[in-house]
Amino acid sequence: MRRKLIAGNWKMNCLKNEGLALAKAVFDKTNGDLPFDVLICPPMSLLGQIAALPHKIGVGAQDVAVAPKAMGAFTGDVSAEMVKDLGATHTIVGHSERRAMHGETDAVVRAKAERAIDAGLTVVICVGETLAEREAGRALPVVTAQIRGSVPEKATAENCVIAYEPVWAIGTGKVPTTADVAEIHGAVRAELKKVLGTDIADKMRILYGGSVKPSNAKELLSVSDVDGALIGGASLKVEDFWAIAETQF
Ligand code: 13P
Repeated sequence: MRRKLIAGNWKMNCLKNEGLALAKAVFDKTNGDLPFDVLICPPMSLLGQIAALPHKIGVGAQDVAVAPKAMGAFTGDVSAEMVKDLGATHTIVGHSERRAMHGETDAVVRAKAERAIDAGLTVVICVGETLAEREAGRALPVVTAQIRGSVPEKATAENCVIAYEPVWAIGTGKVPTTADVAEIHGAVRAELKKVLGTDIADKMRILYGGSVKPSNAKELLSVSDVDGALIGGASLKVEDFWAIAETQF
């Protein structure tokens, strides 16, 4: 039985006061025993301060450096070791915004995932097709190729989570049908079986992301092979984030 993971990706949002207040509000909600896991991924600027607050959930980065070293001449980059050192438990890699705006290839995403795992972080590897790929009927081959190219051999159900985020559903209010979500998540798990073996693949969590809201969360999270959600916009308001989480009680 895979425990659900409700994850918030704050993206490039929140100045200090707002971010600390949001984190505290989430930490207040998650003080007790929960039947699911919770993760928040604030911007790097606030990660250390937020991770230093008392909390019982995961706190993660949104990216780590691809550089093969823990430290060195990589201006502007923050290594997985540094993220871990701030008290983080997780990091996202390969978000579509980084693939699109920073030209990150599957090879880069895979290398970042390896750095994260080596540093002792749990890595959330994002995959997902564009609208053009979906309309061309290529969503399945695109996503399964991303899995083959982005998931390192050292991935396990403990150190790795997959997030399927159709690019056209991110921030648009559009969501795939539950049948489409089931099809992709099933194909992702089948591909993970080929790459990592049945045992690991059966235990690995596959999140859905893209316009998850309180109004659609229950339905999306009940689709087979959907083991949680990666939430963008709705994770910036504690009421909305918690309303999504509450569908899993
Ligand atoms: P939205 O929930 O705002 O669509 O963003 C999804 C996302 O990109 C999370 O990583």
